[in-house]
Amino acid sequence: MRKHILMDLPTFVHTKCRDTSKVYLRSKNIFRQFVPDELVKWEKPFPDYNPPDYTSENLRGKPWADSENLDEMRWNELDGKINRVSHITKYRIENKRPQNPFGRTGLQGRGTLGRWGPNHAADPIVSRFYNGKLQFIAIERGDTGEMAIPGGMVDPGEDVNETLKREFTEEALDGIDDKTLEELWKTGAELYRGYVDDHRNTDNAWMETVVVNFHDDKGILNEVKFKAGSDAKNVRWLTISPSECLKLYASHEHFIRLFAERHNIHL
Ligand code: BGC
Repeated sequence: MRKHILMDLPTFVHTKCRDTSKVYLRSKNIFRQFVPDELVKWEKPFPDYNPPDYTSENLRGKPWADSENLDEMRWNELDGKINRVSHITKYRIENKRPQNPFGRTGLQGRGTLGRWGPNHAADPIVSRFYNGKLQFIAIERGDTGEMAIPGGMVDPGEDVNETLKREFTEEALDGIDDKTLEELWKTGAELYRGYVDDHRNTDNAWMETVVVNFHDDKGILNEVKFKAGSDAKNVRWLTISPSECLKLYASHEHFIRLFAERHNIHL
């Protein structure tokens, strides 16, 4: 089988969130304006740039979502319990709205994202070697049907480490005793902290994540049972192999490449 070429950092940052071929997630007729590669950066003049302005109606009144009152928000800092600090950079505010530090996406507004500016997630890669093969726990996402790391959004005031544990427990575990989970969590090694090329990103709202690898080389997970829960439709061990093509959600292929490298497998 053909070796799947994983996206390189300079291009992966804005590919999925510039896709003009599909209608924007859960909207009826919102399509992104086409942004050529060379015009992604805000510094490049693009006089015809006038993308649709879309914020999903479903966000209105949701306790986990921002309001439309942008004057109240404290950008680039901890705003009450809401973390508006980007892992990447101090972002700019243009026309009262945060500006995506990675450039144009072909869509203004918040789309379906809860927060203006950075929306923080956390992604746990729980792994083992099985019959000499590197494997990690993957879920099938309920929303897009793609295979993914069982991650999720950081709640206001929540520590990222807690999010990692909560999401893994909710989406992939069928019960585990606290001691086993604690033992596994001690193995945590951070692989990535930054921007995600997520299909929901807009010019004013974007995903960021922290990816941590929990690698079990003591057989801690042998007795643990997995079950898809919350936003997951399925859960299973996925085997990493340089000869096989892994198609995953958002930037997760990039995170899996970093993870494989940590275990001396070069994809
Ligand atoms: C997902 C994470 C993902 C993040 C950015 C969240 O909804 O649960 O796994 O990394 O979005 O795409």
